[in-house]
Amino acid sequence: MPTAVFEARQITKTYQMGEVEVQALRGVDLDLFEGELTVLLGLSGSGKSTLLNILGGLDVPTSGTVRYCGEVLDTDDDATLTRFRREHVGFVFQFYNLIPSLTARENVALITDIAEKPLTPEEALQLVGLGQRLDHFPAQLSGGEQQRVAIARAIAKQPHVLLCDEPTGALDASTGIVVLEVIERINRELGTTTAVITHNAIIGQMADRIVRLSEGHIQSAAANPQRRPAAELSW
Ligand SMILES: Nc1ncnc2c1ncn2[C@@H]1O[C@H](COP(=O)(O)OP(=O)(O)O)[C@@H](O)[C@H]1O
Ligand SMILES: [Mg+2]
Repeated sequence: MPTAVFEARQITKTYQMGEVEVQALRGVDLDLFEGELTVLLGLSGSGKSTLLNILGGLDVPTSGTVRYCGEVLDTDDDATLTRFRREHVGFVFQFYNLIPSLTARENVALITDIAEKPLTPEEALQLVGLGQRLDHFPAQLSGGEQQRVAIARAIAKQPHVLLCDEPTGALDASTGIVVLEVIERINRELGTTTAVITHNAIIGQMADRIVRLSEGHIQSAAANPQRRPAAELSW
């Protein structure tokens, strides 16, 4: 049995919007396992981002517990959550949030300067296939390349966990594939426990586990014993 990195139990999340209560998560149990690549699928509004944000300590549940490496995350304590995020979690979002006045190398160096055992910016950018773009500014890079810089920035501190929320959402299909291939390579080569939210069901084929959410519930969380390298998939 693989080791659980995250064990989420009976997670609920209710947002109060004026008079209206939105139940984003309605009792979610989910394990993410060491070294696995998990894909989260589900319609828009099904609670995927809410769940990922709670696992990554960006948001807190209304009820329920999250264990990280066997220890309950104290979601009441901001300082604990901040330390947890900084030390263990890399995030990738749909939008790249690069600093326009800094080069690719400098954008990544912002993180490596404050991390404990970082890759060098050059190593991180090499891993995402941008070894030849070190001194380009974001405006001189394509959308897919900018996203790969954002991935390099997320993994440069060698986080235990990489959480990606629709990393290909702003990209055309073929560029999106390149980005997913990069995420898959990070998972394989660095062993980073990875979860990716996407609308693209075919990426399930390159995952170890496919989790389907519907209206705040987990519908299924099936292992995929036939994981295939992204490069082998016909998209
Ligand atoms: N900060 C928020 N405030 C109020 N409602 C929210 C907030 N974030 C998400 N929601 C609501 O919670 C539900 C789940 O949202 P989300 O987790 O973003 O879904 P998904 O990522 O699957 O599209 C949606 O109905 C959404 O409108
Ligand atoms: Mg979302």
